[in-house]
Parts: sequence; structure tokens; C-alpha cells
Amino acid sequence: MWKHIFGGGKSTANPQEQPSAIDSIDRTNIPRHVAVVMDGNGRWAKARGLSRSAGHEAGARTLKRIVRAASDMGIEVLTVYAFSTENWKRPPMEVDFLMRLFDSFLQREIEELHAEHVRLRFIGRRDRFGDRFLRRMREAEDLMAGNTGMRFNVAANYGGQDEILRAARSLAARAAAGELSPEEIDEECFSNALDTAGDPPVDLFIRTSGDLRLSNFLLWQSAYAELFFTDTHWPDFTPEELASAVNDFAGRNRRFGGLSADD
Ligand code: IPE
Ligand code: IPE
Ligand code: MG
Repeated sequence: MWKHIFGGGKSTANPQEQPSAIDSIDRTNIPRHVAVVMDGNGRWAKARGLSRSAGHEAGARTLKRIVRAASDMGIEVLTVYAFSTENWKRPPMEVDFLMRLFDSFLQREIEELHAEHVRLRFIGRRDRFGDRFLRRMREAEDLMAGNTGMRFNVAANYGGQDEILRAARSLAARAAAGELSPEEIDEECFSNALDTAGDPPVDLFIRTSGDLRLSNFLLWQSAYAELFFTDTHWPDFTPEELASAVNDFAGRNRRFGGLSADD
């Protein structure tokens, strides 16, 4: 476990320190699936007079810390939004920078993620990436396919509507080929045709940097997600704030359209 991130080291340095939000997590009520819109790299950089690229680099460092924290907290599935189907509209220089950053992040982190039993999977369209990155994506997925630790989905060239359309098309093709009858297409069947096949629905949907929107992320999977918005820009997001979101989630009254026990 990535104990060096928090806990051990910190309390040895200062045994009098108050328990952090991480120590106070209710481990019996952890969201199984946490989704994160990692927004605000550009605004973080601008506020410091830095380039947007520097913001994305800082965001990648934050991701590394948050993946470890989520795994240590016992979260089963973490899905992060790295690049949307709409982000191609950005200037080519920024898109190029992001692609190189994803590639080097993967190269740098793969061994450590694997050693921690994380199962990495990419969700989204594969049709616009370069060959080298595509190969690295596949190698990473193959390497970690048998891992039994936290499932870590990275949404790259991902759009919720695009994912739903691709699923609908693949089911329609199977129906047209006589492999499936339209009546068999129920919620479970449809969920299993999505890129997140096999994962539980999103319990907790976090968006950093203050905007109150979904931006086409996990539209099907978040049907009953609890939403957590914070003004913190992604590079400043900490394991402690993730723990606060998890604690906040534990206090929510989820009714799923029904009534609570005391209604
Ligand atoms: C999120 O940060 C990262 C990506 C979309 C790749 P932004 O780049 O959207 O940062 P802001 O929203 O401009 O601050
Ligand atoms: C959502 O952020 C996509 C990612 C974090 C990768 P955007 O910055 O692209 O979203 P909008 O444009 O503000 O809705
Ligand atoms: Mg943004």
C-alpha cells in the first residue's frame, strides 16, 4: 500500500497531530465507484502566471497522488476524465502537449501501478491517437488485466454520448445479425456494452474548479450518482479533500426514487 502518502510518515513526524479527514473515513460506507472531472489546470496555471502546459503537468502530479489515495481508501473503481471528445477543439499545441504528457505519464507510472495491483483501463474512442500511444495503452492494459486491486479507468477521447451511441450501434449490429433479440436489451445488457462494462454505477461524481456541469462525462453510469463540486483547481486537489468528499458522501440520504426508512 502507498502508506508513505499519508498516515505512517505524517503521524511519526508529529504524534500530536489531529486525525486527518483520511483517518476519519467511515470505511463501511465507501463509494464503490468514484468519478472525477479533473478540471481547472488552466486556471490554476493562469493564477500563477504559468503556461497552461505547466498546469497540466501539475495536474498529472495530482493524479498520481489521488490514485494512490483512492486505492488506500478502499475505493473499488476510480474513473478520471483526462481528455474529452470535445477537447480536440483546443489549439493544436495544447492537444499535442497533452498527448505527450499522457504518453510519458503512462511510461513513468505503469510499473508502480502494476506493483500496487491496480487494473488500468482506458475508456473512450481509440481512433485519433498516435500508434505509439495506442501501443502503450494496450500494453499497459494487458499487463494489468489480471490485477485484483483498484480498477482505474482513464477516460481519454471520451464522451458520454459517443459511448452510448457506440454501445447502441454494437447492440443493433448484434440484433441485426440475429445474435440478440431487441427484448433482451435491458439495463444490464446495455451497461455491459459500454466501455465501463463490469463496473458498478458511479456512486460519487466529483468535479473540481467550480463549474457546475457534467461536460459529457459518464452520462449513463452517473444516473444516481451523488455530486460533489469544489472550487479547488485540480492541481491543488489533495487526498484530504478526496477524503472529505467521501465523508460527505457517507452522510447523504440516497433514495434511488424510493423512500427512506423514516419517511
Ligand atoms: C482540465 O483542465 C484538463 C483537460 C481538460 C485536459 P482545463 O485545461 O480544462 O483547465 P481550465 O478549465 O481551462 O482551467
Ligand atoms: C472536462 O473539462 C474535460 C476534462 C476534465 C478532461 P472541460 O474543461 O473540457 O469542460 P468544459 O469545456 O468547461 O465544459
Ligand atoms: Mg476546463
